[in-house]
Amino acid sequence: MCIMKLNKRVVIAIVGLLAPLVQCHHHGCPPFHGGNVVINAYQLYPENMDWDPKLCQAYISILYNASIGVYNPYTNSLTSLSFPGQSFSSQFHIAGVAWDKYTSLISVIVTQGSAFRTLGRNVRGDNWLNRYDPIGRKFLWSANLTTVSRNRYGGFNDLVHDKDGNIWICGSFPGTLLRVDRSGRKIVEWYVPEVINTTIFGFTGIALAGKTLLVVDESTGSVLKFDTRKKGNPVPLAVTPEMTVERSDAMRLPDKYEGKVLLITDHDRGVLVLRSKDGWKTAEYLGLVPSDPTLPPGALTAAVSQIGQRICMVPNWFFDSKVPAGGLAGNRSTFYLVDITGQVDELLK
Ligand SMILES: *[C@@H]1O[C@H](CO)[C@@H](O)[C@H](O)[C@H]1NC(C)=O
Ligand SMILES: *[C@@H]1O[C@H](CO)[C@@H](O)[C@H](O)[C@H]1NC(C)=O
Ligand SMILES: *[C@@H]1O[C@H](CO)[C@@H](O)[C@H](O)[C@H]1NC(C)=O
Ligand SMILES: *[C@@H]1O[C@H](CO)[C@@H](O)[C@H](O)[C@H]1NC(C)=O
Repeated sequence: MCIMKLNKRVVIAIVGLLAPLVQCHHHGCPPFHGGNVVINAYQLYPENMDWDPKLCQAYISILYNASIGVYNPYTNSLTSLSFPGQSFSSQFHIAGVAWDKYTSLISVIVTQGSAFRTLGRNVRGDNWLNRYDPIGRKFLWSANLTTVSRNRYGGFNDLVHDKDGNIWICGSFPGTLLRVDRSGRKIVEWYVPEVINTTIFGFTGIALAGKTLLVVDESTGSVLKFDTRKKGNPVPLAVTPEMTVERSDAMRLPDKYEGKVLLITDHDRGVLVLRSKDGWKTAEYLGLVPSDPTLPPGALTAAVSQIGQRICMVPNWFFDSKVPAGGLAGNRSTFYLVDITGQVDELLK
């Protein structure tokens, strides 16, 4: 609710007339208490996360099971969604998951695990974009991205939605962009470098600001911009002071900050905080929210997500050894959401 500094009688008089015009931030979801959270879930290994402010739940990419966790932060409970023919196969990993604010649907990338295991030496195999309706609880479609990539590049990693219904996907080996239409039938190569060298570790995270796609590029440690209106080569985002991402993964422009604050995960270091006051023509690097040193050893910062009105950092233990005899993942059962809202807000002051 917004707080209006007016007396009660005036408020009553104007609310009925002006309510639709008054700019309030109405948050449909109850406040999430904040603070660090422990999620007890065997083999959760979260690769990405996104918040659904309609259903007040988060979606978690369960990396090695190739399934999606539907997480209720108020009760700290998790259910999972699996994809027939894709989940629970060592071939597939779940990379990006994103809630689409224009349709209230979710989109999920099911990618080849081997592309990441071999750091791009082997990008062969099917990759999928799945569309799911969390309100109706039904799968809508699955698009085979390999019909377009034809094993020339791979490592599809993260995605973002635009208001025209397109789904933009970035690939890591090397940096590429695909645009998929709302039906999943039309897949366009938006950016593929002229010379394709799959062992160049490229784009790992993507966000959309107006008509500008922001992409974090592992090979240069920088943020690149693409225009969604016309194809072209990327332009570096000018950032002051200069910053370098060492081992990038996901990236978010949380709605909480109205698209003005970009959060980039850096595996060993934490979350880099950037702000733009000119619609991402330029940006300021405000600083780093460091990884939580009290986490069990081996934690790497995989994702960052808004949950309610809080911002949470999502650690993963990518280097756990797999459970012997065919286990898809390690044996860990304790995972964490690290609330960094206070630290981000401190940098924004
Ligand atoms: C992952 O899959 C294993 C079975 O292979 C299952 O026991 C476990 O509960 C799953 N983890 C999650 C978080 O869904
Ligand atoms: C996905 O597309 C690739 C490339 O066209 C094809 O080889 C593969 O069979 C397709 N996968 C399925 C399950 O149809
Ligand atoms: C491909 O990229 C890798 C990593 O940057 C580099 O070592 C290798 O020389 C490149 N290969 C070719 C053929 O350019
Ligand atoms: C979990 O895996 C680790 C590393 O492989 C191993 O040392 C540990 O004994 C395992 N724990 C259990 C309870 O199986």
